[in-house]
Amino acid sequence: MYEICVQSLRPVKTVAIKSPIPTPGPNQVCIKVIATSSNPKDWQVPAIFPERCANEGDDIAGVVHAVGAEVQEFRLGDRVAGFHRMLEPHGSYAEYAIEPEVSTFHLPPNISFEAGSTIPLTAMTAAIALFQHLMLPLPWQTLHESMPKYGALLIYGAGSAVGAWALKLAKLVKENKSLGVGPIIAVAGTSSLELVESFKAADYIVDYKQGTVVADVRKILEKEGKELRHAFDAISHSDTKTWENVFPCLAKKGTVWMNMTDPSEESVVWPSNMVVSRVYVSGAYGEHDPDGYRNREDAILDGEFSYCMYRYIARQLKQGRVTPHPYVVLEKGLESVAKGLQLLYDGKVHGKKLVYRVADTPHLEEYHV
Ligand SMILES: NC(=O)c1ccc[n+]([C@@H]2O[C@H](COP(=O)([O-])OP(=O)(O)OC[C@H]3O[C@@H](n4cnc5c(N)ncnc54)[C@H](OP(=O)(O)O)[C@@H]3O)[C@@H](O)[C@H]2O)c1
Repeated sequence: MYEICVQSLRPVKTVAIKSPIPTPGPNQVCIKVIATSSNPKDWQVPAIFPERCANEGDDIAGVVHAVGAEVQEFRLGDRVAGFHRMLEPHGSYAEYAIEPEVSTFHLPPNISFEAGSTIPLTAMTAAIALFQHLMLPLPWQTLHESMPKYGALLIYGAGSAVGAWALKLAKLVKENKSLGVGPIIAVAGTSSLELVESFKAADYIVDYKQGTVVADVRKILEKEGKELRHAFDAISHSDTKTWENVFPCLAKKGTVWMNMTDPSEESVVWPSNMVVSRVYVSGAYGEHDPDGYRNREDAILDGEFSYCMYRYIARQLKQGRVTPHPYVVLEKGLESVAKGLQLLYDGKVHGKKLVYRVADTPHLEEYHV
């Protein structure tokens, strides 16, 4: 089969190789990939491990080709999407890929393979951040009226794919009035405002490009008579230091929670009342973080959570209660992975995912045995 490895960065180069179709392990599923999409980590990982020349794709949409001996939920030919186990062989930049059964879900008929390929990694990052770290109640829970309410939630970087999913999931929770979630405050850039508004999820949207985020958020909280105890920084990259805009918005007294997507900047000294955590999406299949951001016990719980959450998200997609992120399909299928990763590397991708259709790849048959 045809498979793409990321060979080098600056500029991004990929190489096509001829590989055997992989065989799934007992709890794995082999997917004939119809569409896949790129994530920032697909260039960030080679930047950390430059000697690695590997298939970095993780987002899979396609049909089930083979199942492991212990797989019970999927049958050959099922339309599915799923999250490949990061940094392991048999990723999604190929004609066939392997994913764990737990991070595979049935793709509803109203969701195309292209749209489906944008969902697995980013949606689960947002879900683990909100529900496993920031303790947002699950959308189907009910709270007795005497129980403490969740209150305000800040989602910083709502124009990113992860941030957008956080906003869409938070909306489902807010719709359950007993939980007392709100206001939801989204922070996004000028070019993402229309997209963020289209989710009809945020009570307030603040444009960080105006340079007055902290004052704007404080004004909103004052008007609402609320304190902010929970914030998700969906960007949190050391280049942008977005957390510097997040933590002054959080309440000064009592414990406050902030979750970040990027595990950088260990040197930052956080206020003593702040619980800072880093989301680690590998928890989706129960893997702990070797850097210590998620221990083994927590990761096992994240795995159980993601099994349920993927199925819940599929149901909401089917009912039209959440929608996939906007996307653009690049020409020439997997041959364009290098172009896509270069666009991500250069920070030129705004408000959309980059998708590749495997069948659009030229000369696929030359790689068949
Ligand atoms: N820890 C984990 O497990 C994990 C998992 C997934 C992703 N991540 C990380 O999370 C980050 C987001 O990933 P993604 O896939 O969502 O990326 P993405 O969709 O490519 O994000 C691009 C968007 O980020 C927004 N952005 C950039 N700089 C910003 C800033 N200073 N303030 C606010 N928004 C800003 C821009 O929105 P505007 O147009 O609004 O400016 C841009 O459209 C990446 O660094 C990724 O590596 C971590």
